[in-house]
Amino acid sequence: MFQTIEIDKIIQQCFSSISFKPYPENLYGPLRYMIAIGGKRIRPRLCLTAYNLFSDKVDNSILKPMMALEVFHCFTLIHDDIMDNSDRRRGQPTVRKKWNDNVAILSGDVMSIEAYRLLSEAPSEILPAALKLFNETAEKVCEGQQLDMDFEKFSVVTLDEYLKMIGLKTAALIAGSGKMGALIAGAPNKVCEAIYDYGYQVGIAFQIMDDYLDTFGDPIIFGKNIGGDIVHNKKSWLLVYALKSASSEQAAELKRILSMPVDSEENRNAKISRMKELYVALGADTAALSEIEKCHKAAFDALRGSGLEQAQLERLRDYMNSLFNRKR
Ligand code: IPE
Ligand code: IPE
Ligand code: MG
Ligand code: MG
Ligand code: MG
Repeated sequence: MFQTIEIDKIIQQCFSSISFKPYPENLYGPLRYMIAIGGKRIRPRLCLTAYNLFSDKVDNSILKPMMALEVFHCFTLIHDDIMDNSDRRRGQPTVRKKWNDNVAILSGDVMSIEAYRLLSEAPSEILPAALKLFNETAEKVCEGQQLDMDFEKFSVVTLDEYLKMIGLKTAALIAGSGKMGALIAGAPNKVCEAIYDYGYQVGIAFQIMDDYLDTFGDPIIFGKNIGGDIVHNKKSWLLVYALKSASSEQAAELKRILSMPVDSEENRNAKISRMKELYVALGADTAALSEIEKCHKAAFDALRGSGLEQAQLERLRDYMNSLFNRKR
């Protein structure tokens, strides 16, 4: 097995040498831009880590599908930033901000096609299974993204509804990334499923942390503008928790905040700071962090009985720990 640092180096090399067609520049330029501005690359890292539990033979049959997962992820981000009206990502202007919404729609489309082109280089004997996994995953992301937008209009969303939504929009791709690596390495089905379940819980924790950072993060380190979820009445983990645990007085305040206007910067800032105050009063910030801890425990528990050896389990624990306490 490789060291984590070697895995990161392989991934970095893959993305520094990825190329897209030069013309039309307004179609392919945003693809180069999205890859060049970085990102944590957590999906390819899980894919390669899971593969490497079973094989040291790193060639295009794993690297191309691994890249497909990140390219697909970048596509979802380009479209997500249109849906969420977001101006900053990875510490840079979003594609919709740097170009415009129409460019973001079409370059996103072609980026998803590029993802499938990369995936098609999976070894022919596992391509049907890899394609099935990829399609199911991609469909889930779309389903989750639609629920995320639908929920903006709902006055109440339960924790179960929230978990279903983030399971689709975020956890499915992380789970699928781990399973893809194990699948391509030829791991037994039971192990592939255990890694999927582990990745799913890691993904749930990852989105709860993203929700936490959207309100309580440092905008410079997080790389995105803070408070976007509050401005859009997104049913983030924090808001779902607040809806569930508010006293009748706090519930009335919550309702008032949700109906505050967001038509000027001043109004947006007022809404963000009032909501933040309520979250802190309710202890939603610390509750989110302990929920993340619980999910990480559940993730590791999902590997029990899978037959993975200690050294393999340690690798997956290291991966999980690297996401814990993240600030970006
Ligand atoms: C952002 O994903 C979207 C979510 C699922 C929260 P990442 O936090 O992995 O974004 P990058 O790729 O590191 O920019
Ligand atoms: C989006 O969730 C997850 C995707 C499937 C793209 P968010 O909307 O919370 O992601 P960020 O915060 O913009 O990265
Ligand atoms: Mg979104
Ligand atoms: Mg977003
Ligand atoms: Mg977010």
